[in-house]
Amino acid sequence: GPELHEMMKPLSWILGKWKSLNGEGHFPTIKDFAYIEEVEFFHVGQPNIQCCFYSSHPESKKPMHREVGFLRLKPNSDQVAIILSHNNGVCELEEGHMVGQEIKMESHTLGRLTFGKEPKTKKIARVFRRDGDILEQVVSMETSNTPMTEHLRIKYKKVE
Ligand code: HEM
Repeated sequence: GPELHEMMKPLSWILGKWKSLNGEGHFPTIKDFAYIEEVEFFHVGQPNIQCCFYSSHPESKKPMHREVGFLRLKPNSDQVAIILSHNNGVCELEEGHMVGQEIKMESHTLGRLTFGKEPKTKKIARVFRRDGDILEQVVSMETSNTPMTEHLRIKYKKVE
């Protein structure tokens, strides 16, 4: 394939296919749950990294939450952005910073369907961190009835 765009080289550590080891979800208003997820970060030589997050039920393997989007980097900085659309109608822009192989970011813009279900997602925050062959993601959210609280915690192993 094409060479990774010069501007995206600081993010090369996130590239590849990742499969979950253990995914757990929780939130004060719901029952704890387990999930599995396949994640891919890839590029076509442009100054962005495309990504997808496909979660499934751990037993039935039935598809659950899905997200697709792009990672961008502000040139000559440690500033990272992610642009994501979710199958449940949420679309979001998050920005934050990268330190080593860790990115912390939170949404500054979030859109939803006029006919989306309650509660409304108000803010999303994520942490990605790589340690060896393991990538970890932690997702927190604020909704119309719950302050910012962790929703997801998952580790992935690099498969490609
Ligand atoms: C529930 C948002 C990712 C599984 C919820 C709720 C919201 C939400 C707003 C309802 C909470 C309440 O009733 O107070 C999000 C957002 C996500 C996300 C913004 C991504 C940033 C995921 C993922 C899974 C998942 C990856 C994995 C399977 C669930 C489940 C529930 C739930 C099982 C409880 C049952 C239900 O309401 O469908 N989520 N979610 N979510 N989420 Fe997520």
